[in-house]
Amino acid sequence: MRYLKWSTSHAVFVTEIDDEHKEIFEAVSNLQEVLSSRGPLLEIRKLTQCLIACTVEHFAHEERLMRAGRYGSLRWHKQQHNTARSRVGQFVLRIDQGDTQAGLALVEYLKSWLRDHTRLADRMMGAFLRNQQRVCKLTFRAGTKPMDACDWVNANGDRFNPLTSKPGF
Ligand SMILES: [Fe+2]
Ligand SMILES: [Fe+2]
Repeated sequence: MRYLKWSTSHAVFVTEIDDEHKEIFEAVSNLQEVLSSRGPLLEIRKLTQCLIACTVEHFAHEERLMRAGRYGSLRWHKQQHNTARSRVGQFVLRIDQGDTQAGLALVEYLKSWLRDHTRLADRMMGAFLRNQQRVCKLTFRAGTKPMDACDWVNANGDRFNPLTSKPGF
């Protein structure tokens, strides 16, 4: 079984989100390693709890960011999180009941779900959040003066003229 490795193909280009994804990917791999080598049940439970805790916190973090930014696809994105939360809960129940296959089934489910979710839903959210940061910066730097009296800068801090620049600078 291959391990889940984070690469730039999973990047959403929002540092805090990418860092959390790396942590989750690593937690999945750690659990897979112990399960594959038939490690002690105590260790399996500990790593499962660790994986669940960082995943649950991560989902809540993304949902807070999307809510704060009034992200239009929040409902669709949150529905995907809800599906994963519910499936993971079912696997954890089986693990707690001593089902030896449930651990590896959980790992396989999360590997596939995370690959798909980070590359589409999270990447779309990342693009939205980055764009919002850029707009906020422009608004802040422009202040309330008339348009032609403002210093307009792009996300790199370079000056530009909003009347003559192409959309997207
Ligand atoms: Fe997400
Ligand atoms: Fe995510």
